[in-house]
Amino acid sequence: MRIKACRKAHFNAAHRLHRKDWSEEKNIQVFGKCNNPYYHGHNYELIVAVIGEIDPETGYLIDLKVLKDYIKTEVEDYLDHKNLNEEVEEFKNLNPTAENIAVVIWNRLRKRLNLKYDIEVTLFETPRNYVVYNGK
Ligand code: NI
Repeated sequence: MRIKACRKAHFNAAHRLHRKDWSEEKNIQVFGKCNNPYYHGHNYELIVAVIGEIDPETGYLIDLKVLKDYIKTEVEDYLDHKNLNEEVEEFKNLNPTAENIAVVIWNRLRKRLNLKYDIEVTLFETPRNYVVYNGK
C-alpha cells in the first residue's frame, strides 16, 4: 500500500533575483520587484511529502517526528531569517527562485531520508504562488 505522509513547515528569508551578466534593464524586465538591489523577504510555506509503503509492523510510513527533525535541521535552521543570496552556499551562484529553493530543499532532505521513500517538496513563496519538485 503506497501512501503519502506530509509535514508543513515555515521559514522567512530574504532574496534578490539577479544575473550579473545581464543589464540592469533586462534584470528589472525579467525579475521585476524581486530584482530589488536592497533585497526583500518572503514568508515561505513548505510541505514535505514522503511517499512509500506502510510498514506492516508499525503501521507507519515514517515516524513523523523523524521527518520533523530533518526539516528543522536541513531547512528551518539552515534557511530561516537568512539572506539566501549572501548566506546560503547553494545560492552563491544560483538565483534563489522558488523553483531553485525547492530543489535545494529536496536535495538536502534526500541525503537524510531512506532511499525507500520518494520525496515531494511543495514550496509557497506567496499564498497564491507555489512550486512542486519531486526529483524528476
Ligand atoms: Ni521575491
